[in-house]
Amino acid sequence: MGYEVVIPAAGSGKRMGAGHNKLFIELLGKPLIAHTLQVFEEDDQCDEIIVVVKKEEEERIKTIVRSQGFKKRIQFVAGGEERQHSVRHGLMHIKRDGVVLIHDGARPFVPLERISELVKTADAVGAAILAVPVKDTVKSVAESFIEKTVDRSRLWLAQTPQAFRLSVILEAHEKAYREGYVATDDAALVEWIGKQVAVVNGDERNIKITTPEDLTLAEYYILKNKGNRNANRTRL
Ligand code: C5P
Repeated sequence: MGYEVVIPAAGSGKRMGAGHNKLFIELLGKPLIAHTLQVFEEDDQCDEIIVVVKKEEEERIKTIVRSQGFKKRIQFVAGGEERQHSVRHGLMHIKRDGVVLIHDGARPFVPLERISELVKTADAVGAAILAVPVKDTVKSVAESFIEKTVDRSRLWLAQTPQAFRLSVILEAHEKAYREGYVATDDAALVEWIGKQVAVVNGDERNIKITTPEDLTLAEYYILKNKGNRNANRTRL
């Protein structure tokens, strides 16, 4: 089943401390945003990519996209103050009321089979996200002392892509925009309007590259993926 994907890429990446948009950081000679776009370039189910960019970075991102020779239809849309506003701008450019994915530009390792499962679930339910169960013990802390140990058996870490029927996510974003409500992910907006969001198993490798420590792990994953591809080719 086909889908469209909105990729917010208009952040500044303060936690990376690179002094510029982290999506331009090169991982083994290729910018992070190009690695993320490559995933959707390779997914036959993806009909169109909408990249949300800062106006002043639009040319730079377009140059990167051209240099990669992507064949997919890619639109560029101007971003907003917060991630949520950037996503809303992207959604407003979609015409067809099918399934739309929202995926952070800083998550280049989402496996295609997880996307496929997510799209199927979102089509059936209206809203679905990838997530992984919390592995560590979780503490609630106030002023350097533990308040309590939180029961982790029901805690999951939300990832992207998050997938929605376009009408569902647009309704949530428009209401949030009108009422000035800001959340840290798109699923939270759908929860806020009282609709159900299904959870599909994500993948531990589907990290959001956020701090300098993540870069080493990211390069390891890229090399490993390359190794797997070469091994598959040899087998064929
Ligand atoms: O900063 P963080 O990694 O949480 O941002 C998640 C994604 O949202 C990134 O791909 C970033 O470029 C994007 N973003 C955006 N517009 C903003 C802030 C963040 O498109 N105003």
